[in-house]
Amino acid sequence: MELDWSALEAAARAALPRAYAPYSGFPVAAAILFADGHVVAGVNVENASYPLSLCAERAAVAAGVAGGHGPVRAVLVLTGADEPTTPCGGCRQVLAEHGDADVPVRAVTLQGRTAEHRLGALLPDAFDGRALRRD
Ligand code: THU
Repeated sequence: MELDWSALEAAARAALPRAYAPYSGFPVAAAILFADGHVVAGVNVENASYPLSLCAERAAVAAGVAGGHGPVRAVLVLTGADEPTTPCGGCRQVLAEHGDADVPVRAVTLQGRTAEHRLGALLPDAFDGRALRRD
């Protein structure tokens, strides 16, 4: 089935103004399509204690998991930057926990520039839960 990227972009565009990024001045919104068809958005939520800041992608994953929407099927990341920005390393690891290597990750700017990668290309040879099993 063809992916409805416009629904993800609409969700991200609606969420972007709610990003809480007073320290970096770099608002980010992520929209994730989950296996049950729900699209869930997240934004970055910064903190005066900088390392406690939360990325948009992780916020979206957490909201989707809390909603019981199942595995991640597609990810869109929206910023106002000049060039599309792909998820940071930590977010790649978190996305890989909840989505397969073939999950498409589309980065979009407010001006419409787009870049697309598969999650497995963004995080090859990912560390995952299999390494922790002892049976
Ligand atoms: N940020 C995200 O929300 N997602 C990313 O993948 C990269 C970075 C946020 C973190 C911080 O609030 C701001 O962008 C600048 O790094």
